[in-house]
Amino acid sequence: MRVFQGGKRLPLRSRITGTGSYAPENVLTNFDLEKKVDTSDEWITERTGIKERRIARDTETTSDLCLEASKKALQAAHLKPGEIELIIVATMSGDMPMPSTASLLQKKLHAKNAAAFDLNAACSGFLYGLSVADNFIKGGTFRKILLVGAEVMSKFIDWQDRSTCVLFGDGAGAVILEKTTGQRGILSTRLFSDGNLWDFICLPGGGSQYPPSSKTLKNKLHFIKMKGNETFKIAVRTLEKLVVDTLRKNNIKLSELAMLIPHQANLRIIKATAERLNLPMSKVAVNLERYGNTSSASIPIALDEVVRKGRIKKNDYVLLEAFGAGLTWASALIRW
Ligand code: COA
Repeated sequence: MRVFQGGKRLPLRSRITGTGSYAPENVLTNFDLEKKVDTSDEWITERTGIKERRIARDTETTSDLCLEASKKALQAAHLKPGEIELIIVATMSGDMPMPSTASLLQKKLHAKNAAAFDLNAACSGFLYGLSVADNFIKGGTFRKILLVGAEVMSKFIDWQDRSTCVLFGDGAGAVILEKTTGQRGILSTRLFSDGNLWDFICLPGGGSQYPPSSKTLKNKLHFIKMKGNETFKIAVRTLEKLVVDTLRKNNIKLSELAMLIPHQANLRIIKATAERLNLPMSKVAVNLERYGNTSSASIPIALDEVVRKGRIKKNDYVLLEAFGAGLTWASALIRW
């Protein structure tokens, strides 16, 4: 759909008009983890870059985290909850399988005019959500959308498994997308998946394949499993190609990019990708030392931080990229 102005065609786009984020108060440091499993601050820092992560209280749910992040995003966009037409929550750790966490958020937020659904593309979920929201706006179905990436990973982690429990954390990041015309906004979103590699990162129990039972509990199928090293190698290769292809498809040079906001899984993945691209780390958003891997929440939390610190300015080119379970990977190019 296009809009005309002064005889000129202006592309109809979606633009992020507000961001917000929230992480639970409780901080779990690498030193705390040394007391739980056979690990060390040195190993975790060297292999991942993570120093600490936030952990939700027993009573705190994913929709609670969504609520706090959403309130801040709404405030930044100068909108009231009743003006939101659609809520999308990207999550793999929702409050319950049914109803959606987005519906529970709608209730808590009193966003009574919004449709609501969840979307699960694991760590790529926020960018999948951004693509869905962007297309709803460009197609004219909705004008104001709240998109949240939120996870309470801590409740799906085997706290006796040192290979996974040191990696993840809890948090939420939210954005408001609104209809706009002109050069600023979401320029492109690209989504990919390879289901053949589904078992690289998975949480096998609790669904229709292995419904909850004493056996699934005993075999710990309700916890996240990851082939870390195999995933690592594919992630670096895939992300470099993803960034190069996204820029090329949009005729943007790497030197024109103001900021790369990667999914925050591992500092070595982020640095290796930047090195392969020849992109200075000053142009890469990194906050995983404070949050760990918050899956679908990692990109919107990092985005909110760079926005609030004034690290990206009007008209800057910003590229977001993610990689995670599915396998899935995705990118979004934004003119801020
Ligand atoms: N503390 C100390 N030692 C640990 C440990 C921990 N927390 N976790 C694993 N180890 C040990 C392993 O047992 C292994 O020991 P071994 O050589 O005696 O068998 C050794 O450290 C190396 O393990 P490995 O898995 O090869 O380490 P790695 O360098 O690949 O780092 C990850 C592990 C998980 C940090 C890394 O592979 C990773 O980040 N993978 C990608 C994650 C990702 O991108 N996911 C996508 C989004 S979710």
